[in-house]
Amino acid sequence: MSIDLANAVGPVYSSGEHITMVDDHAAHNYSPLPVVAATADGVWITDVEGNRYLDALAGYSAVNFGHRNTEIIAAVNDQLNRLTLTSRAFHSDRLGPFCRDLAALCGKDMVLPMNTGAEAVESAIKVARKWGTDVKGVPTDQASIVVAAGNFHGRTTTIVSFSDDESARRGFGPFTPGFRIVPFGDADAMAAAIDDTTVAVLIEPIQGEAGVVVPPADYLPKVRELCTAANVLMICDEIQSGLGRTGETLASDHWGVVPDLYTLGKALGGGVLPVSAVVGNNDVLGVLAPGEHGSTFGGNPLAAAVGSTVVSMLGTGYWQDRARVMGAHLHSRLSDMVGSGVTAVRGLGLWAGVDVDPALGSGKEMCKKLAQRGVLVKDTHGSTLRFAPPIVITIDEIDWALDQFAKVLKS
Ligand SMILES: Cc1ncc(COP(=O)(O)O)c(C=O)c1O
Repeated sequence: MSIDLANAVGPVYSSGEHITMVDDHAAHNYSPLPVVAATADGVWITDVEGNRYLDALAGYSAVNFGHRNTEIIAAVNDQLNRLTLTSRAFHSDRLGPFCRDLAALCGKDMVLPMNTGAEAVESAIKVARKWGTDVKGVPTDQASIVVAAGNFHGRTTTIVSFSDDESARRGFGPFTPGFRIVPFGDADAMAAAIDDTTVAVLIEPIQGEAGVVVPPADYLPKVRELCTAANVLMICDEIQSGLGRTGETLASDHWGVVPDLYTLGKALGGGVLPVSAVVGNNDVLGVLAPGEHGSTFGGNPLAAAVGSTVVSMLGTGYWQDRARVMGAHLHSRLSDMVGSGVTAVRGLGLWAGVDVDPALGSGKEMCKKLAQRGVLVKDTHGSTLRFAPPIVITIDEIDWALDQFAKVLKS
C-alpha cells in the first residue's frame, strides 16, 4: 500500500521531522523505534516515506486480528453512523449484547466495562477489596492482595505500588499499601503469603512484559486450589495473554483453570480503540452499587460494537486455531535458532520471548537492526525480544521475518 501524499490532509513531514516534533512536544515516557507509521493493513505497516514493515509486535496484542481488520472496521463504520457516546447516564442498544456475549465467551455472567488495561486492573482491585470487606468480612482497610514478582499490570499509582521494576516506581511514591509480592511460579510462596486478610491473588497466567514467561504446568491449578480453600478471589490478568493470542480464548484455558475474575483489554478493542473489561460472576461483580465505580467512556456504544465484533469473531474458534498453527511454526523456527545467537525461547501460541546472546548487542540495538530489515519487534528486559505478530500472519511471512532475524544475528 502506498500513501497518497498528494491528497494528504495538512502539511507532509518526513519521518525525521515527525520524530523531532515528538521529541520536542510529547513527554519522553517512551523510547520508540525510529519508524513513523502512516498506514497499515493486516501485518504490514507503511511509513511516511513508503517503506513497508512487518509488524511482529501487534501493539502488544492489541492488534491480534490484524491492522484494519475488515470485519472490525465495518462494525466501526456502521456504529459511527448510528451512535457513538452516551455515557452510562443512559442505556445504549449496544451495551447489553456486548456484556452478555463477552460474559458467555468467558463462561461468566457479568461484565464491568472499562477502557484501558490499567483501568480494568484497578477496577478488579477495587471489586476484590469491596468483596473482601462486604462478603468475606475482612476488617475495613485491612484487605491484602498477593501478586507475583516480575508482574506488569499497567502504570497507575496503585498498580506501580506492587511492581518490582524500579524504573516503574522510582519517584512515584507514596504508594498504595495492601499488596504482597511472591515469586512467580512458586505456589508454596503463594500459600505462605495468603492469610485471613487476603481478598485476592492477581496474576498474569503468562507474564508478557517479563519476557513471555510461562509458569510450571502445576502452578495455575495449585493457585486455583489455594484460592478456593482460603476463600480468596483468583484474578487472571489476560489483557495481553487473552483473546486468541496463545491458541486458546484465554491463556488460563491451557491449564483448565477458571479464575473468579478476568481482566481483558488490548485485543478487545480490535486494534481500533481502548476497550477493557473485568469479567466475573454476579456473586463477585455484584458487590458494586451505583455511584461506587464508573467511567464516562466505559462501555460506550462504539466500544461495545467493536467488542461485540471481537467476541463474535472469537466465537468461531478460527483465531485460536490459527494462533496455534502459526505459533507452532514460529516456535519451531525460533527453537532452531537456539545456539546461533539465541540463548532461549519461551511462550505459547503466537507469542514468543526470545533471549538473544547479550554479546551480540542490546535488545534495543537488535530491534533497530531488525527494523532496518523491515521487521518490527520490541525488546524487554535487556536482551529479550518479544514476537507477537497479528494472528493474520502467514507461514511465508513468519519465515521471511525470521530470515531477517537470522541475518541480524549473523551480522
Ligand atoms: C498483562 C497486562 N495488564 C495490564 C496492562 C496495561 O494495559 P494498558 O496499557 O492498556 O493500560 C498491560 C499492558 O501491557 C498488560 O500487558
